[in-house]
Amino acid sequence: MDMKEKTDLLEQKINEALAGGGKDRIAAQHKKGKLTARERLHFLLDEGSFEEIGMFVTHRATDFGLEKEKYLGDGVVTGFGRINGRLVYVYAQDFTVFGGSLSETHAKKICRIMDLAMQNGAPVIGLNDSGGARIQEGVVSLGGYADIFYRNVRASGVIPQISAIMGPCAGGAVYSPAITDFIMMVENTSYMFVTGPNVVKTVTHEDVTSEELGGAMTHATKSGVTHFTAANGLECISKLKQLLSYMPQNCEEDAPAIPYTAGNESRPKLNSVIPDNPNQPYDIREVIEEVIDETSFLEVHKDFAENIVVGFARLAGKSIGIIANQPAHLAGVLDIQASTKAARFVRFCDCFNIPLLVFEDVPGFLPGTDQEWNGIITNGAKLLYAFSEATVPRITVITRKAYGGAYDVMNSKHIGADMNYAWPSAEIAVMGAKGAAEIIFRKEIAEAKDPAAKLKEKEQEYNQLFANPYKAAEHGYVDEVIRPEDTRRKLILAFEMLKNKVDKLPRKKHGNIPL
Ligand code: HXC
Repeated sequence: MDMKEKTDLLEQKINEALAGGGKDRIAAQHKKGKLTARERLHFLLDEGSFEEIGMFVTHRATDFGLEKEKYLGDGVVTGFGRINGRLVYVYAQDFTVFGGSLSETHAKKICRIMDLAMQNGAPVIGLNDSGGARIQEGVVSLGGYADIFYRNVRASGVIPQISAIMGPCAGGAVYSPAITDFIMMVENTSYMFVTGPNVVKTVTHEDVTSEELGGAMTHATKSGVTHFTAANGLECISKLKQLLSYMPQNCEEDAPAIPYTAGNESRPKLNSVIPDNPNQPYDIREVIEEVIDETSFLEVHKDFAENIVVGFARLAGKSIGIIANQPAHLAGVLDIQASTKAARFVRFCDCFNIPLLVFEDVPGFLPGTDQEWNGIITNGAKLLYAFSEATVPRITVITRKAYGGAYDVMNSKHIGADMNYAWPSAEIAVMGAKGAAEIIFRKEIAEAKDPAAKLKEKEQEYNQLFANPYKAAEHGYVDEVIRPEDTRRKLILAFEMLKNKVDKLPRKKHGNIPL
């Protein structure tokens, strides 16, 4: 073979790899409204930045006639590239080759990418579209999954890991995305479940479709498995890029900041957000949007546990994580789902040096047998634990209610918050005035000529004493009572003041968060 022939052979192999499972299967993929693995990478990565690794890898299987059916790349496209100039490692499963199923070699390709990402401190992004374990391969395929899970755990907290689910993801395959930091799902073309509708029907006699059981909306609203949904593959990729922009490359770095020129930081609109009636709801997003840099809020878990709002934003160009009680939903009460949602977000931000900003308006934990029997104690403790162990700069703004245990939990200074501001509308107390008066003045009220009037009087007395931020400020639990319009300016200055914060946890192997 001369050089020309050798180069032609290379070209031939490259074209073979690029063809995936063939034209018909690519057409079938498009017919389902799905992009191919290579098209997804094309839209994800900066133009011309993709460098493929393992393009000619094939499987080793010999059973079931597989010896004769091989595709270069073996159902997964792996490599590295850039997103807005930043290095990322990627893998995209190719459904046109054995349904994107995971063989021993397919898994090895993914593991190699993950190892490189760990060694070089850059995020890993997985675009999942797979029928699961390559059925013809048996245990080596299962071993391949476990090799990936192991690396997911090792990489957790070291480099950001993001999973986009763009097709099927079933059986044990769901556990790799579940360990990664963020999951995004595409509506109507993706689903995730441990056991599919057929097994469900056999075991529990329930009739359920794939979409109902594990589609994007199910996981966005009911289970909280997915953090984001997108209407189609392109929207998913664009959200993924946006998400990545708030994160650093690894746990040793800070997230990239965007240039910011100081201007008029006063936000008078904030003065009128809180209704006069303390029991009237308002949307905490109105407060968030006013305080942060314009249009910089990326809400995480938007449709799950809506009584707490979490997400990324920028303040004076710098990335921050926001956790905010939402009075517009269940009065902003803390329940099991809200606690776990917020705890996971706090821990992500803390892993990756993203400062935390808390807006607090919380009437307490949700009472009831449902909550108690399902473990509000253990689950509420997760949020308490997550805040307490976080060493990033942490600031709380109490906009209205800070009642009971929830006052402690929501990033109080007692559990390590660096600064705590309160608006004049803040009410910091063990509980609401009516409940408090009923308990502590029970006898007096019962013996009164007009018990209802007495209750009102005592309620007012309690309110006067505690339904304000000044008692807490006297104790230094609140650092400053601020005008709402000054919130943005105060926060910019405070985060700037805290930017070199160093706080270390006691030496330990790892903590034991109440799981
Ligand atoms: C090998 C597979 C495959 C698999 C699909 N294919 N899944 N090949 N191993 N797991 C092949 C099909 O044979 C077909 O090949 C092509 O991929 C496309 O599949 P279709 O069925 O035609 O596509 P569609 O109708 O879209 O259905 C997709 C699907 C279905 C729902 C994913 O293929 C399916 O149910 N597959 C099996 C899923 C499964 O049970 N996997 C094992 C799960 S257990 P041709 O040649 O016709 O194009 C598991 C354990 C992991 O994963 C444990 C880890 C701890």
